[in-house]
Amino acid sequence: MTLHPGLQAVAGLLGTWRGEGSGEYPTIKSFSYTEELTFTDVGKPFLHYQQRTWSPAGAPMHTETGFLRVIDSQTIEFVLAQPTGQTELAQGALNLTDAGFICKLDSQVVNSASAKQVQTTRRQLELSADQLSTSFAMAAVGVPLTHHLASVLHRL
Ligand code: HEM
Repeated sequence: MTLHPGLQAVAGLLGTWRGEGSGEYPTIKSFSYTEELTFTDVGKPFLHYQQRTWSPAGAPMHTETGFLRVIDSQTIEFVLAQPTGQTELAQGALNLTDAGFICKLDSQVVNSASAKQVQTTRRQLELSADQLSTSFAMAAVGVPLTHHLASVLHRL
């Protein structure tokens, strides 16, 4: 299958990534987790994204899925859904580097439905060859934009 030309800038994301992460927030106990995510080409001008996490004991934790689209050669749009009903539409500028890119995505819309209330989110994806680093901050449950997650993944 030929990759849609619009996706060339994010082609390095394709595949499965796995690694370790840690989480914190002022209202909860800090934690660590294992994360696996995949970006799949479906022959359309977007990538399908699936993420799963596990506790150190192997219990399933957070999971989310969505689609990543390159709007123009410099802007990424990421639409995400969680099983709790939480949904997010985020956008960010793609900054190309020698070995990949850095992209900071800010939420345009967050819907919390019956889940805990999240006002805004900020995600960062940093691709450097076979390493993908992620970080996530949110304004939620009355706390202003504050770090929640960071992980470092490697291509499987
Ligand atoms: C709380 C894990 C991603 C929003 C928590 C807690 C854990 C956790 C362990 C504390 C226990 C609990 O209340 O259930 C994770 C993991 C994630 C992840 C492993 C992915 C790697 C996210 C994302 C969002 C989010 C993407 C929002 C878009 C929240 C909120 C709380 C929370 C709102 C509640 C804070 C509170 O009750 O004060 N998360 N989370 N989390 N998380 Fe996450």
